[in-house]
Amino acid sequence: MKRESAGSLRPADAGRRVRLVGWIHRVRDHGGVLFFDLRDRSGICQAVVSPSDAAAGIAGKLRAEWIVAVEGTVRLRQEGARNPKLPTGDVELGDVALEVVSESDAPPVLPSSTDVPDEAVRLRYRFLDLRREEMQRNLTLRHRVLQATRRYLDAGGFLELETPMLTRSTPEGSRDFLVPSRLQPGAFYALPQSPQLFKQLLMVSGFERYFQVVRCFRDEDLRADRQPEFTQIDIEMSFVDQEDVLSLAEGLTRALVAEAGWELALPLQRLTYAEAMARYGSDKPDLRVPLEIVDLSAFAASLDAPFVQSALAGGGVLRGLRAPGGASLSRKQWDELSGQIERFGLRSVPYIALAEDGLRGSLAKAVPPASQEALCQALGLEQGDAATIIAGPEEPTSLALGVLRLAFADRFSLRAPGHRFVWVTDFPLMEWSDEEGRAVSRHHPFTHPSPEDVDRLEAEPLAVRAQAYDLVLDGNEIAGGSIRIHERPLQERIFRLLGLSAQEAQEKFGFLLDAFRFGAPPHGGIAFGFDRLVMLLCGAPSIRDVIAFPKTAKGTDLLTGAPADVSQVQLDELHLGVKAAKEPER
Ligand code: AMO
Repeated sequence: MKRESAGSLRPADAGRRVRLVGWIHRVRDHGGVLFFDLRDRSGICQAVVSPSDAAAGIAGKLRAEWIVAVEGTVRLRQEGARNPKLPTGDVELGDVALEVVSESDAPPVLPSSTDVPDEAVRLRYRFLDLRREEMQRNLTLRHRVLQATRRYLDAGGFLELETPMLTRSTPEGSRDFLVPSRLQPGAFYALPQSPQLFKQLLMVSGFERYFQVVRCFRDEDLRADRQPEFTQIDIEMSFVDQEDVLSLAEGLTRALVAEAGWELALPLQRLTYAEAMARYGSDKPDLRVPLEIVDLSAFAASLDAPFVQSALAGGGVLRGLRAPGGASLSRKQWDELSGQIERFGLRSVPYIALAEDGLRGSLAKAVPPASQEALCQALGLEQGDAATIIAGPEEPTSLALGVLRLAFADRFSLRAPGHRFVWVTDFPLMEWSDEEGRAVSRHHPFTHPSPEDVDRLEAEPLAVRAQAYDLVLDGNEIAGGSIRIHERPLQERIFRLLGLSAQEAQEKFGFLLDAFRFGAPPHGGIAFGFDRLVMLLCGAPSIRDVIAFPKTAKGTDLLTGAPADVSQVQLDELHLGVKAAKEPER
């Protein structure tokens, strides 16, 4: 008999004899009558074995996660025994014949249990963890979004072209994973951090519209939304300007999120980087949070606090942020919040609170009575609210307020339901790196400066804006891209500004500079963080929940034990020696 899907049976099938093969999800014994749920990818179906049935002997031995073949007759469940939560909840299999296909030890991760074990156990037994309904749902949606990507881009005339995995390192800000060459002693390939240069070369080659669903590798510190290997939807287009790329990316985004049942109204909202920083204190603002930073420079002269006066004398800014309901926070809770912004050079969070009997808080005394009403109005304070007021250099002040904005959102449950997409555009081309002691590219060195700023490149490199854009969803950067430089002299100028000598530039990027000598089209593109997007579409708390076999935050694969030692023979073949591992610190 042909195998059918457990999740497909409905009342209309009553009376049919069917054959199901799948896992025992759960067994219940009701006074000798055994009810077991049989699970396959399509769902779950209940089968019933009475003590007098021929199958009773085998049925009594069945345990969770054994695989069995069941032949049975579909029948309607009795009134009161129906399960409206299951698509097959009106039917069950009776009169069954059973055959054990595969036995199972007691599983350390039980797919039928609502108690989810520690992540370490889940990752060690990932093949079992993936049997859980949530993981099956996540990976199924991942597949659907992937297929929608291919359909949309193929229909838009994009070619899916592959680029090398063993390559030369592209400087994109992270460390490379290196692969030693056996045939060339002492030389290394790098795994790609992204296919950036290859996709640009494909534009020079005349393909005009390229995409790739591509694995990228970055040896960086890991977080809930970062993996050392992750997947991008990588896109590049020729003869386009920024509007063309944004509009293609918006259409694609709408098609992809539709797979999760989200509806998207286009065009998407846009903010410049400068606006996003001034209003939300972040280059990836979560617009579900209804709080905005307020400029308080009009109050600078009247505030009687030395830190305000000294910050402003040093060219700083004075900004504030409302905490709705914040008057209920104790001084200790404000102190806890200050721990989150220490890294911006702030030792405490200065605040005022509007209580019934007037202004309170660490900064209340600094506000002269004549300014109180106007200040509260500027901050939008109502009774019961509080606000923090920070003075200092512009960037750290904005970033600190951005962090507090999210902290207030967490503490007072301020996020509006639904989802908010926003483009952030006009990023700075370069930023200062204390580590390197020089300006570094904010995105990558191939990003085109905004045409109106090109003249300022040498005089004020840090003030130059770029034709670079990020797509942000609920406070997460889900895509980033730019219009590229296609003019050799401009690319050489940028390399110079980044501290590369002509010789170094030729050594590292000679192939790109060469390509630009032979009719390079204007081009630009974008890359979506595919795992991150799917994580948000699934409502999953971690990127690991949408990757079949992810790494831990320490970069290990608990299933296979990678990374692991290799034999001396392998090392010798690769002309490698390993320095003695450092003693662990006590
Ligand atoms: P970028 O570095 O911004 O751009 O990367 C594009 C998107 O990839 C995702 N992403 C990650 N996802 C998971 N784990 C990581 N470690 C990780 N790092 C990045 C983010 C990000 O928005 N070559 C350019 C693209 C271009 O200019 O076209 C690039 O790689 O969602």
